[in-house]
Amino acid sequence: MRYTGILACAAVDGVVGARSVDSDVVQREAVREASLLTARAFPANAPHGYTPQTNACPSDAPTIRNASGLSPNETAWLETRRQATIDPMKQLLARLNISGLDTDKYISDHQSNVSNLPNIGIALSGGGYRAMLNGAGVVQAFDSKTVNSTNAGHLGGLLQAATYLAGLSGGSWAVSSLYANNFSSVSDILASNPDDSDLWQLGNTIYEGPSKGSIQLLGSAGYYAALENQVSGKEDAGFNTTITDYWGRALSYQIINASDGGPAYTFSSIAQQDFFTSGSVPLPLVVADGRAPGETIIPGNTTVFEFNPWELGTFDPTVAGFAPLKYMGSNFSSGNVRSTEACVTGFDNIGFVFGTSSSLFNTILTAVNGTNSTGLLSTALQASLTALLGGIAEADNDIADYPNPFYGWNNATNLGHASQQLTLVDGGEDGQNIPLHPLIQPPRAVDVIFAVDSSADTNATLPTNASATGWPSGFAIESTYRRSLTEIQNGTPFPSIPDVNSFFNLGLNNRPTFFGCNSSNTTGGIAPLIVYLPNAPYVYTSNVSTFDLEYNNTERNAIVANGYNLATQGNGTVDPGWGTCVGCAIVSRSLERNGVEVPEACTTCFAKYCWDGTLNETAPGSYVPEMKAPGAEIKVSTSGAGRSKVSAAMVVAALIVIVGVW
Ligand SMILES: *[C@@H]1O[C@H](CO)[C@@H](O)[C@H](O)[C@H]1NC(C)=O
Ligand SMILES: *[C@@H]1O[C@H](CO)[C@@H](O)[C@H](O)[C@H]1NC(C)=O
Ligand SMILES: *[C@@H]1O[C@H](CO)[C@@H](O)[C@H](O)[C@H]1NC(C)=O
Ligand SMILES: *[C@@H]1O[C@H](CO)[C@@H](O)[C@H](O)[C@H]1NC(C)=O
Ligand SMILES: *[C@@H]1O[C@H](CO)[C@@H](O)[C@H](O)[C@H]1NC(C)=O
Ligand SMILES: *[C@@H]1O[C@H](CO)[C@@H](O)[C@H](O)[C@H]1NC(C)=O
Ligand SMILES: *[C@@H]1O[C@H](CO)[C@@H](O)[C@H](O)[C@H]1NC(C)=O
Ligand SMILES: *[C@@H]1O[C@H](CO)[C@@H](O)[C@H](O)[C@H]1NC(C)=O
Ligand SMILES: *[C@@H]1O[C@H](CO)[C@@H](O)[C@H](O)[C@H]1NC(C)=O
Ligand SMILES: *[C@@H]1O[C@H](CO)[C@@H](O)[C@H](O)[C@H]1NC(C)=O
Ligand SMILES: *[C@@H]1O[C@H](CO)[C@@H](O)[C@H](O)[C@H]1NC(C)=O
Ligand SMILES: *[C@@H]1O[C@H](CO)[C@@H](O)[C@H](O)[C@H]1NC(C)=O
Repeated sequence: MRYTGILACAAVDGVVGARSVDSDVVQREAVREASLLTARAFPANAPHGYTPQTNACPSDAPTIRNASGLSPNETAWLETRRQATIDPMKQLLARLNISGLDTDKYISDHQSNVSNLPNIGIALSGGGYRAMLNGAGVVQAFDSKTVNSTNAGHLGGLLQAATYLAGLSGGSWAVSSLYANNFSSVSDILASNPDDSDLWQLGNTIYEGPSKGSIQLLGSAGYYAALENQVSGKEDAGFNTTITDYWGRALSYQIINASDGGPAYTFSSIAQQDFFTSGSVPLPLVVADGRAPGETIIPGNTTVFEFNPWELGTFDPTVAGFAPLKYMGSNFSSGNVRSTEACVTGFDNIGFVFGTSSSLFNTILTAVNGTNSTGLLSTALQASLTALLGGIAEADNDIADYPNPFYGWNNATNLGHASQQLTLVDGGEDGQNIPLHPLIQPPRAVDVIFAVDSSADTNATLPTNASATGWPSGFAIESTYRRSLTEIQNGTPFPSIPDVNSFFNLGLNNRPTFFGCNSSNTTGGIAPLIVYLPNAPYVYTSNVSTFDLEYNNTERNAIVANGYNLATQGNGTVDPGWGTCVGCAIVSRSLERNGVEVPEACTTCFAKYCWDGTLNETAPGSYVPEMKAPGAEIKVSTSGAGRSKVSAAMVVAALIVIVGVW
């Protein structure tokens, strides 16, 4: 069944007006786009746009791989990447000035075996545009290409020294946007001229469509027609489509710098890009949750899936397998394609991948009902929406639908082994809103994870009355810890994490905290050290509502700037020792592995930044954070104009999209 959710929703409020579809115009546009795209490398499915193709399989027909270790592709790529991180790491550590440790010599002494050097991962949480922009600010701070980022007090080069960059939901939009745009820097993206491209022009909401490019000529009607045209191509080719397809297509207009949101861009083609094969960038990872058909609440022990440029799969002991991403959409059975005459390519559209990671429509019904109290929705609108969403849920259309590559695979443990469909939803729905899962897997041997938490956990009554809304509480990382105590974790080590009350009472939700400093204080073995970076107001109150789907560039840049200052602790103004402590976190596990004594500078850091294991589980007082670098505060005028009023249409959009859970 074809589901035109976005069309229907916009129509509910009548905001976009009648949408007459001029299919001739759309057709001409498609042809034009195809001819433009064939010249480029990334749109692997050109000229077929969003429509997957079925052809004979290659001679080495794709198979499902057992999750017993890394893929041969990843292992081979790591050889190049780990080498490429050595120089940036040397330069970064030298600047971070860990007195008592000659970091140049340390790296030189151990670089003959890169396994002995620090192995860095970065994780960007979910939380809609807030998370995308906050995460982007952290990436910008870590990127040596950012102007002034290698000055004293800054952290430029950490991105170049990192092996992995993981994103979930809104965080996956930031990650995907970089890789889909030739790994342009965040600064370049922000500086792009709105007259040339729609990239990150969040003033043009996904409900109105872009204001630039070919689409502008067509107006909103053309935009909706294009979405419909793209998705129906996939449906007509015999694939189930859901609201997630529309969602991914609509977001792509803002995330991907190509005509019509790059309908032919695939996630697997990242593996073919020069910037990636040369090992000059980290490995991108995107997380989504498994959801059994008919299930609406995602349990904490659900199977967590990852997308990487080669594969979709999971290390979890349930499915315990990886499918080749490029051939997603093919019919697999018991690990092999059913017919070597029918291999599907072009199914793994990059927008569908980050749309999957942010597909949380199944929680919306609850949210719509819960939103009534805010008075933003008229009773009639709420009723329409409830009916609409109910219909989606009933038809099981509120998920991302993949032909199940794990059909007949690991029957004994794989709960979905007899299902023709693999149904995936937003990676944060199990509570684990930070994509730590792929980074803690033992075969990846990550030493330190910079975990950016942009969750919106607090509200007017949480933790207690008169609290500020929209800041993290520690719930996301605590969820990963709680999961680590269950069977699904399969013995994967994770640091001990306190309860949410302790987060508030000890202030761990408001400042960077290192978890797992003591490598023996983890469940099951040596876990990565986690540098937890909760969003807080440094130079801007970036606790914007997940319901806001429209940002002008002034506010967009202010949220990114706050992320930059979160990463650098106000370029060292909040704590002049922060840079050194980041350096200590980076080298900690490596020093231990090589039996090198921890310098006193690091002991001091750990005393300051490590969670010391104390708890304070009493009910916390209200949480109202203060601006941390008031001297550099960015004031975005709040005088009338600018931001358009939160309209019912926008609320509808937000509800359909990114419920205020995260
Ligand atoms: C490095 O740190 C030491 C103290 O830990 C300080 O005396 C020295 O000035 C710092 N060097 C630089 C270049 O910041
Ligand atoms: C590299 O070091 C790791 C342990 O840190 C060890 O397991 C591995 O065998 C070493 N590799 C080589 C080639 O020496
Ligand atoms: C970089 O630093 C210089 C010198 O402090 C300053 O003049 C310039 O504005 C900075 N540029 C940016 C983009 O921050
Ligand atoms: C991608 O970026 C690299 C390095 O910044 C540049 O040399 C190359 O021309 C870019 N390619 C495209 C297609 O923009
Ligand atoms: C986006 O695409 C336009 C047109 O191809 C190009 O001029 C611009 O440099 C691109 N922006 C980024 C950030 O890659
Ligand atoms: C998840 O937890 C539920 C309830 O405790 C349990 O019934 C189920 O077997 C668990 N599933 C897995 C895959 O561990
Ligand atoms: C996959 O199987 C379904 C149902 O058996 C069939 O309709 C479809 O054509 C098959 N697709 C491919 C690519 O083989
Ligand atoms: C489409 O979904 C239906 C259930 O709604 C399922 O029976 C069928 O196998 C799915 N088809 C494909 C191609 O995934
Ligand atoms: C695994 O499950 C599939 C689907 O139910 C079934 O067709 C297949 O025979 C099973 N394989 C084994 C080895 O039991
Ligand atoms: C940190 O540096 C950035 C860019 O270089 C600047 O925009 C910001 O205001 C600085 N933060 C503080 C607290 O001075
Ligand atoms: C880690 O330390 C905390 C606080 O001392 C303790 O409650 C917890 O049980 C320890 N966890 C492990 C796995 O050792
Ligand atoms: C940008 O948006 C902010 C926040 O809504 C608003 O206060 C400001 O006036 C707007 N600025 C412009 C230039 O439109």
